[in-house]
Amino acid sequence: MSQRTFSIVKPDAFRKGFTGAILAEMAKAGFKVVAIKKASISKVQAAGFYAVHKERPFFDSLTTFMSSGPIVLMVLEKENAIADLRKLMGATNPANAEDGTLRKLFAASIEENAVHGSDAEDTAAFEIGYWFAGYELV
Ligand code: CMP
Repeated sequence: MSQRTFSIVKPDAFRKGFTGAILAEMAKAGFKVVAIKKASISKVQAAGFYAVHKERPFFDSLTTFMSSGPIVLMVLEKENAIADLRKLMGATNPANAEDGTLRKLFAASIEENAVHGSDAEDTAAFEIGYWFAGYELV
């Protein structure tokens, strides 16, 4: 059954001009774009989005990074979208990412790791609703 997931082209990848190449890899892998927008988010918006990580030592650095420049927010759809996007992205730390994955191709470090993808159905629902209104999902 078709499933939706949420993804971000992070500030590092946007700044380096990788957005088009990342979208092309996603299209090649069969993802359809349900919604997409460029945004510059505040540290407070980033903190709300990553609230699940608020006790982690990297939380302050992560929210500073995510609010450091433009990003691209997306809702993507395909069969098995959540697991398939995570496979396409590769490991969180690009040093451990397999060849051909987005993070192997485009990421610089565990924090500046180019892309985000939801890790489960409940987080996908939260993340889509956090950034998009229902009328934007077409
Ligand atoms: P993401 O998939 O967006 O989810 C949480 C983010 O926190 C993760 O990608 C990384 O960018 C970042 N992150 C996870 N672990 C670490 C870490 N050990 N040090 C710094 N940043 C991290």
